[in-house]
Amino acid sequence: MALAVVVFLFTLTSLSAASAPDCKDLIKPFMPEDPKLVFGKWVYVMGAGDPKTYHNALASLKSSWIDLSPTSNNLIVTLRWGDHCFDRCILGEVNATISRIATTFRKNLSDHKGHILQTCSDCLLWTDTFRNRDVIGRYIMQFTRTGKIDPKDVEIFKKQAGCLNFPENFHSYDGKTELCPDDKESTE
Ligand SMILES: *[C@@H]1O[C@H](CO)[C@@H](O)[C@H](O)[C@H]1NC(C)=O
Ligand SMILES: *[C@@H]1O[C@H](CO)[C@@H](O)[C@H](O)[C@H]1NC(C)=O
Repeated sequence: MALAVVVFLFTLTSLSAASAPDCKDLIKPFMPEDPKLVFGKWVYVMGAGDPKTYHNALASLKSSWIDLSPTSNNLIVTLRWGDHCFDRCILGEVNATISRIATTFRKNLSDHKGHILQTCSDCLLWTDTFRNRDVIGRYIMQFTRTGKIDPKDVEIFKKQAGCLNFPENFHSYDGKTELCPDDKESTE
């Protein structure tokens, strides 16, 4: 009897594992064991937004980098960015607050709250929701150290964005527009 139950349960589990896409695993918030892996400079490669106005707004983002660095408080991380947007460079810096898996910061009058997801090695995948007065939206953004990405990792990004119901026609960095100069470029 007991064996029959075990076999039955086992069959059920393997069936659901086979039929359902592994969305649950693909969108699990990720906390790297070594936070140092997250620090440093990252180059935007592709992303999507929701609702549509924010998705379309990504088209004005010609290139973008972010830089994450620790502070003396291990729950506060300094986020700097250089967005090539509307044909100019917009540089900025905020202190982001980490609580458990969520990270919050304010950028361009919007309050963002998000987390990173499991992704390729030497990649950073960020998704958040933001609020700007009474407007609410979401973003998902893939970064790599180089601004380049392996086609097989693009496929995984597409699945992850799909699991989170982002538009499928994701936006990509053209790989050509120069990155905005970083006035604090650190020599590490
Ligand atoms: C971030 O926090 C550090 C350490 O508390 C502080 O020195 C720095 O001025 C803050 N930066 C911003 C942009 O608020
Ligand atoms: C910043 O926010 C303002 C007002 O919401 C918006 O018009 C502008 O396009 C935003 N700038 C960037 C760089 O996103």
